[in-house]
Amino acid sequence: MLTPDTAPVPVLRVPDAMTLEDALGIFGLNSLTAYFGMLRVGNPTPGETVVVSGAAGSTGSVAAQVARNIGCRVIGIAGGAAKCARLVQELGLDAAIDYKSENVSARLKALCPDGVDVFYDNVGGDILQAVMDNVALHARIAVCGQVAAYDSDQPAPGPRDMMKLVYWRVRMQGFVMADHAHDAPSALDQLRTWRDEGRLVYRTDLREGFGQLPKAFLDLFTGGNDGALLVRS
Ligand SMILES: NC(=O)c1ccc[n+]([C@@H]2O[C@H](COP(=O)([O-])OP(=O)(O)OC[C@H]3O[C@@H](n4cnc5c(N)ncnc54)[C@H](OP(=O)(O)O)[C@@H]3O)[C@@H](O)[C@H]2O)c1
Repeated sequence: MLTPDTAPVPVLRVPDAMTLEDALGIFGLNSLTAYFGMLRVGNPTPGETVVVSGAAGSTGSVAAQVARNIGCRVIGIAGGAAKCARLVQELGLDAAIDYKSENVSARLKALCPDGVDVFYDNVGGDILQAVMDNVALHARIAVCGQVAAYDSDQPAPGPRDMMKLVYWRVRMQGFVMADHAHDAPSALDQLRTWRDEGRLVYRTDLREGFGQLPKAFLDLFTGGNDGALLVRS
């Protein structure tokens, strides 16, 4: 039985001057998840090649920009030409892969001839496998989520060949944001600084009305959301 202190989702006070949209969006739990997951689990160093799946979404867009801001080369994976164009033009990523129309493994091979050092994974499934095919020695995989499996009654599948982890010395680690909640104030300071400097952009997809909830929820599994999905009633 969970008690409030050990609940997976921490309760954080919304500062007086912050709008609810910012508190649930750019300075919300998903951004903190991205910040801690990228820096503490992915642990990239400047110059390394970082790949983010679900890169146009709420968590992924921030994870990608965190890595870019510390000097990594960042490639985002998203669905559709429009989202991919935005990853490069709006978020300033080095490249984008449209998993709906491109062969992800082949594109990664071309874009990352020395392999992927860090993979921040929101999706799992075929995209995780495509990255596993292209990991660098000592790669780190930060497992944030497995959204490709959420609308299935099957467990989320892992990589096809676990010996790849052995020979390539890959570290694969899941995490939840709550593990790092005690450091949220300093993370929020950094995110605010980047936002003020124009180095953190964030798109909110705000829907109006309680009745929008079912469709909004389902849009998460089709990519029908355009940024962080919020419903206001
Ligand atoms: N570990 C934690 O503490 C924590 C906290 C918050 C969220 N998460 C995880 O973070 C992930 C992203 O959540 P979010 O709230 O930020 O949502 P989001 O990325 O804003 O929206 C979900 C996106 O997932 C992509 N997607 C859905 N089904 C897919 C599939 N079969 N293959 C590839 N992409 C697919 C779609 O993007 P495209 O349009 O690009 O297809 C969709 O827009 C989820 O896995 C969630 O569980 C983890």
